[in-house]
Amino acid sequence: MNQNETPLFTGLLEHAKKNPIQFHIPGHKKGVGIDPEFRDFIGKNALSIDLINIGPLDDLHHPHGIIEEAQQLAAEAFGADHTFFSVQGTSGAIMTMVMSVCKPGDKIIVPRNVHKSIMSAIIFSGATPIFIHPAIDKNLGISHGITTDAVRKALEAHPDAKGLLVINPTYFGIAANLKEIVDIAHSYDIPVLVDEAHGVHIHFHDGLPMSAMQAGADMAATSVHKLGGSMTQSSILNIKEGLVSAKHVQAIISMLTTTSTSYLLLASLDCARRQLATKGKELAERVMGLADLARKRINEIPNLYCVGEEILGTKATYDYDPTKLIISVKDLGLTGYEVEVWLREHYTIEVELSDLYNILCIVTPGDTEEEINILVEALRELSYSRTEITSSTKALEVHVPNIPLLALSPRDAFYSEVEVVSIEESVGRIIAEFVMVYPPGIPILIPGEIISQENVDYIKENLEVGLPVQGPEDPELKTIRVIKEYRAIK
Ligand SMILES: Cc1ncc(COP(=O)(O)O)c(C=O)c1O
Repeated sequence: MNQNETPLFTGLLEHAKKNPIQFHIPGHKKGVGIDPEFRDFIGKNALSIDLINIGPLDDLHHPHGIIEEAQQLAAEAFGADHTFFSVQGTSGAIMTMVMSVCKPGDKIIVPRNVHKSIMSAIIFSGATPIFIHPAIDKNLGISHGITTDAVRKALEAHPDAKGLLVINPTYFGIAANLKEIVDIAHSYDIPVLVDEAHGVHIHFHDGLPMSAMQAGADMAATSVHKLGGSMTQSSILNIKEGLVSAKHVQAIISMLTTTSTSYLLLASLDCARRQLATKGKELAERVMGLADLARKRINEIPNLYCVGEEILGTKATYDYDPTKLIISVKDLGLTGYEVEVWLREHYTIEVELSDLYNILCIVTPGDTEEEINILVEALRELSYSRTEITSSTKALEVHVPNIPLLALSPRDAFYSEVEVVSIEESVGRIIAEFVMVYPPGIPILIPGEIISQENVDYIKENLEVGLPVQGPEDPELKTIRVIKEYRAIK
């Protein structure tokens, strides 16, 4: 196969060049019927390939032409047996993975710090989650992945599980010993599903953590749009056949996917794959160099710590992705969110995420030394402005709440009769909705868990500092939906 070719993108261009008379959707017809301001901004080129699954352009639901060819090239590039394109982000690919292996009542082993799409899939499929505690980094206040020991214990206790889901690498770029985890799960004939939302690039450079396909995992939902250069919302689902069947996965992904698949997104996947396959290594090399430079210079700034390879060596920190800059700001006496806002207001810098103690900046082929210099300069100014008032500031103490107890399956809780109570009154009750901070979208509470005072305090702490707490029907989180309790009538 020739990785320089882009059958899908090229097919669209050739089709558009014929200037066909379109009696089909989309009704804007090459942009002619669209709002002129939007047309002028977005450009005629993009609108000319905003097409639909007419005969010559294949169909994502039943690929047998240019989409199939593009998916085959992607499979080769990622070392998979099959690749499915997703126009519904990695969330869509993750739901497909879970629903491909689980039916109602089946057990799936998952870390508790999963993205909400995994919990949504667990609710849709009716699976029972067996949670593994992620390893918590008390210094940074973040959770890492799961350890091999924890996986071994979970499998010994639940050899009948239908799948093991692993987040690798984590949002913060920390990787577990995936190969060992895969080998253990396979010794039980249990398929390994990898949430590889933050790892599309790792497959293409030996200095980066091992990819899901390299480790022999059965499925991986991989965000090409996050770090691989395709357009937002476009992802892939890679699979290795054996414990899972490509035909079954195709049926499930099709059930979960819009029938109006965006060809702009699909074409961008085709081209991103070409770039990764042909230049991925050299691009990663340059990005790692830029990130290392940034890390070194940030670590020279007082009261800031940018995580480097010293984080490695624990059971949960087997490897890391150096292109992620995890910057601990707690010693400035500021929350990550305050630093995020300061950078926005003073330097028009937007970070990837902030939490109570850190900011996360990602470095990609889209960056140059110029952006790195501005980030370092901004952080230096912020730090020195804090140093002058150090006596009145105090480093924030990290605390991470314990994982709540699951009293009901998430699906049963979600579909139970509920009542709305004030957040203060919710302690001790079983929650019927999600509460999470987005990004990263990892639930503080999931349906079925017992709300503790510690959870309520943690939610309030996040709200007070301005972090985006989402999930409940009440956006202000003054009230919360809990399972209705029937007390004896006196
Ligand atoms: C760990 C993790 N998994 C899955 C997703 C979902 O990816 P997408 O936004 O492409 O649906 C995200 C998104 O932030 C994520 O951080």
